[in-house]
Amino acid sequence: MADINQLKQEITSFKAQTQEQLEAFRIKYISRKSVIGQLFGQMKDIPNEGKKAFGQQINELKNLAQEKFQELIAQLDHQETTQTADSMDLTLPSAWAPIGSSHPITLIRNEIIDIFAKIGFNVSEGPEIEDDWHNFTALNFPPNHPAREMQDTFFIEKDPDIALRTHTSSVQIRVMENEKPPIRTLSPGRVFRNEAISARAHCIFHQVEGLYVDTNVSFVDLKQTIYYFVKEMFGADTKIRFRPSYFPFTEPSAEIDISCNICGGNGCNVCKYTGWVEIAGSGMVDPNVLKSVNIDPEKYTGFAFGMGMERMAMLKWQINDLRLFTENDVRFLEQFKSL
Ligand code: DAH
Repeated sequence: MADINQLKQEITSFKAQTQEQLEAFRIKYISRKSVIGQLFGQMKDIPNEGKKAFGQQINELKNLAQEKFQELIAQLDHQETTQTADSMDLTLPSAWAPIGSSHPITLIRNEIIDIFAKIGFNVSEGPEIEDDWHNFTALNFPPNHPAREMQDTFFIEKDPDIALRTHTSSVQIRVMENEKPPIRTLSPGRVFRNEAISARAHCIFHQVEGLYVDTNVSFVDLKQTIYYFVKEMFGADTKIRFRPSYFPFTEPSAEIDISCNICGGNGCNVCKYTGWVEIAGSGMVDPNVLKSVNIDPEKYTGFAFGMGMERMAMLKWQINDLRLFTENDVRFLEQFKSL
C-alpha cells in the first residue's frame, strides 16, 4: 500500500516538457510492462481477504495514470502550437509553390485543335479499348490483314474481338455511326502497338484523326486543308508533298511529307538525308467504309487523315528521341514552361 501511495504521488507531480519525457511516462506507467502492470501481476500472491482492497487500489492507480497521460498530451500539444506561433516570422515572404508545365503532347494537341477549329472542325473522342469492328472491320480491313495479327496489336485477355486501339481511325466509325453528314471532326487520342521502345518507336503514342464528310468533298479539299494546317503549324515557308500510298479505309490514299524543318530541307539524320519527313496518312474515305456506317456513298464523299502527335512535336521543337515524352524527366518538361 505504501508503494501505491508513493506511485500516486509520483504520477500526480510528473511534468513533461518534451515528447521524450511524455514517452518515458507512457513506458513507466501506462505500457503493459509498466510498474502498474507489474502490480496487476502480483494480484495472485495476495491472500484472498486482501484481494478486493488491493484490486481497488491498483485500479484507481491505473485510472490516475491514464488521466494524467491525457493531460500531459494536451499540455504538450498546446505548448508546441504556441511555441511555433511565437517563433514564426510573419513578415517573411511566403515560399513559392512550384508550378508545373503542360506536357509537350498536350501543347501540340491543343495547337492542332485550335488550328482546325478555325475551319470548323469539332473534337470527338473514343475508347482506348476497342472492338474489332471499330478498329478494323468497319474500316475495310480484309479478314487476313497483317495489322490484325499479334505482332502489331495488343489484344485483351486472349479475346480476339477486343484490343487496345492501334489508331484513332476507330473514332471515325464511332462518329459516323452516331452523326449524319456534314461531319467535320478531329479525334485526338492515345494509341497502342506492340513495338519495341526506341528513339524512333514506342508502344504507346498519340495520333489525331481528321474526318470530313459531306456532299461534293474532293481531294482538292483534302489538299487545301492540309496546306492550311501545315503552314499554320510549321510556318509559311514549309513545303508539302503528297505521295501515293495505300490504306484499307481510303481510296485513293496518300502519305503527306513536309520539308524537314530541322535541317531546312538540306538533309539530316531526322529526315534520313532526304530533306522530307512524313507527318500523316490521308485519303478519300473508301465507299465501303461509308457503307459500313450506313452513309450513302452515292450521295456523300469524304476525306480523312491521321497524324502522329509525337512526330509533330519532335519537328516543332527539334526533339530527337521519342522516349523523352514518357520518361517524365523534369529537365525536359521544364523547357516547355513558357509555352
Ligand atoms: N490510321 C492510319 C495509321 O495509323 C493513319 C491514317 C491514314 C489515318 C490514312 C487516316 C487516313 O484517316 O486517311 O497508320
